[in-house]
Amino acid sequence: MKRLPQKPAVWLDSDPGVDDAWAIIVAASTCEVRGLSTVAGNVPLPDTYANARRIARELSQNAWPILPGADQPLLSPLMTATAYHGQTGLGDWSPNDRDSEPLDFRARVWQWWHAHAQEMASVHLVVTGPPTNLAIGALAFPELRSLWASVTLMGGALPGAQVDKAQEFNVYVDPHAADIVMHWIQRLQLIGLNVAHKALIPVSDLSRLTEYGRVGTMLRHMLTFYLHKARGEGGQADAFPIDDVVALAAVVHPEFFHWREMPLAVVREGPLRGTVVLSPSDIRRPPVRVATDIDVRAFRAWLWESMDAYRPQRNT
Ligand code: BDR
Ligand code: CA
Repeated sequence: MKRLPQKPAVWLDSDPGVDDAWAIIVAASTCEVRGLSTVAGNVPLPDTYANARRIARELSQNAWPILPGADQPLLSPLMTATAYHGQTGLGDWSPNDRDSEPLDFRARVWQWWHAHAQEMASVHLVVTGPPTNLAIGALAFPELRSLWASVTLMGGALPGAQVDKAQEFNVYVDPHAADIVMHWIQRLQLIGLNVAHKALIPVSDLSRLTEYGRVGTMLRHMLTFYLHKARGEGGQADAFPIDDVVALAAVVHPEFFHWREMPLAVVREGPLRGTVVLSPSDIRRPPVRVATDIDVRAFRAWLWESMDAYRPQRNT
């Protein structure tokens, strides 16, 4: 196996979700994971929170802090994506929940970030769900606006880019939070559908999952369900997108991408709700690094290389 570059410290804020789950799995082998938090999105908060804990348990990552966040978008009613991710968010995978502790909703993640601000300063935050937790954190604790080594949001698209889907889920579900994030967060980078729906995975690649033991089996069960809806998105009939893994790649391998900097805003109401647009210069927003292109071959090679960590050990 080729040596991976030094592992970045990351915090994953997500709504697992099948592609979020795969991002967590890849992060566990390519990054130093400092914690997970979840938000209402693909499925309601009790499910995203339980799912993060289930995935961590399956990966034997018992020391990761796992915190719940917001149970609804800032101002809009929650919309879920169960057609993609299944009723409880992880497709056809049925985790063994015996012996699991009850869910604890007393501490929310923005309080945890505030209490651990010093430690978070060296951390790359990766947001792959509606950005509600970060928006609440930025409003409640101003130091969180410029704290992180970087913040990557899977959301929207490069303004003006032609994409196959008018609305990207994370930004559409909580456009008010996304706009707050674009107003306040420093060192923000955006992975939109313009790159995520280029970095497609051929369905035939999934035969490789048999090589990765329990983790491969878990992913196979999740993806079998997800493919019913995701297959064909991005414009290739025999391939499917895994947007949230692309967002993680942007932290571990920013050189896979081309970038442009621009201030951004989000349309919050009306028929264009959830559209990411250029912010007028008199509003004075910080520049966001927006991915404009991706090296798809390099991304796929990295994805499968990262899965090597899950090959069962052979006793020779
Ligand atoms: C986003 O929508 C969700 O369903 C996925 O998990 C991903 O974060 C892509 O638009
Ligand atoms: Ca997600």
